[in-house]
Amino acid sequence: MSRKKTKILQAPRGTYDILPEDQIYWEKVRRVVRELADDYGFARIDTPIIEDTELFIKGTGQTTDIVQKQMYSFRTLGNDSLTLRPEGTPGVIRSYIQSGMINAPHPVKLYYFGPMFRYEHPQAGRYRQFYQFGFETIGGQEPVLDVQLIQLFSHILNDLGLKKINVQVNSLGCPECRPGFRRGLVDYYRSRKNRICPDCQKRIKINPLRLLDCKEEKCQPIKTDAPLPLDYLCHGCHNHFKSVLEFLDELDIPYFLNHQLVRGLDYYTKTVFEVWPESDSVQSPEKEEAQEIKEPISLGGGGRYDNLVKMLGGKVTPSAGFAAGIERIIYLMKEQGVKLPSKSNAKVFLVQLGELGQRKSMKLFEELHKAEIKVAESLSKPSIKSQLRIADKLGVKFSLILGQQEALDSSVIIRDMQSGVQETVPKEKVVNELKKRLAKK
Ligand code: HAM
Repeated sequence: MSRKKTKILQAPRGTYDILPEDQIYWEKVRRVVRELADDYGFARIDTPIIEDTELFIKGTGQTTDIVQKQMYSFRTLGNDSLTLRPEGTPGVIRSYIQSGMINAPHPVKLYYFGPMFRYEHPQAGRYRQFYQFGFETIGGQEPVLDVQLIQLFSHILNDLGLKKINVQVNSLGCPECRPGFRRGLVDYYRSRKNRICPDCQKRIKINPLRLLDCKEEKCQPIKTDAPLPLDYLCHGCHNHFKSVLEFLDELDIPYFLNHQLVRGLDYYTKTVFEVWPESDSVQSPEKEEAQEIKEPISLGGGGRYDNLVKMLGGKVTPSAGFAAGIERIIYLMKEQGVKLPSKSNAKVFLVQLGELGQRKSMKLFEELHKAEIKVAESLSKPSIKSQLRIADKLGVKFSLILGQQEALDSSVIIRDMQSGVQETVPKEKVVNELKKRLAKK
């Protein structure tokens, strides 16, 4: 008789599980982000994972790769078109407008942490569900605000123990000077149309700025001599950028002027930046997807977006922000050997034997918990020996043994794990006795 094999279901392509052994990294990132957000005066915001599709078309931009090719959009039963958010900024700005934060003191400084979704070709460091933390400073046009975001981002990476990080900066100008640059770029590429890749031929018409982002080998020599946005900046944008660079110098934040940094989203004006690991290749931790990425892989990026609030229906509100890819950061932490303390810091292990011992030990667990003594246990293990072996492995200072006899006389054995000395104490005294002994260790 042939037996049908049950198919083992896999996580959808481009998604993954955050397994228990990795949680320690995630917790560290969450903690550092939360603490520094607080220090820098950013308040947490959580917006829905689904938004109206129109929000991203208007916000992220109709001509971007994200909107053109990467959105998970669907029709609801009520025939609304919704999209799993591919990035956080448009949702945050929608919420800022909708909730009346416009009346709060400005700038309004917000941060978030959560999953984003892009229909990408999964490869090293590129997932279809990935996590970002992001910061937005809404309402404020001063260059110092752009720099504060870069400073905060560097601070976070530093506190996570990361080294060899590069900040790449550029300016894309504003609606006054950008058209001149775009025209210069289009003219330059049009006259070389036969020597560029088919994608760039399309970019000339649809999104000329992205010409500078092309990774095709064929286009590299042409890209090298292409017009640069800096040469077209108007007086205001020029001064703004100069000021940003002076602040960075003042703060001793090393940066690279990257004239070809254009970012993949439509809303940017003036300053844009990305943060890259120094080595320009990152290998995926997932073996089957392992593949070198030749292009520099950005840990995060952002910039100024002075017109987005207005584009989404608010007043003119110059703003700036950035977001970082958490998987990429955690991968780099592992690659650079960042050490994190192991999670279990229990000092006491509860050993039980027999049903009565088990019952009483559960009660004792509650009492120890109330007294803020962290306890480990292995309730399902039947033998004292195997439980003591686990206690030993965890490196606890004391084990509390509650067997049948102790359960009957309302006593507990305290075993000093280092010396092996055991002492029987009345149950009601065990918490105080433990506190005393732990204080001495
Ligand atoms: P972004 O450059 O599209 O910007 O994404 C920011 C970061 O998210 C990237 O640098 C990367 O680390 C990570 N990331 C993006 N796509 C993926 C992916 N498929 N898999 C893994 N990681 C990924 C934004 O999202 C803007 N909202 C940033 C911003 C905020 N600008 C102003 N405010």
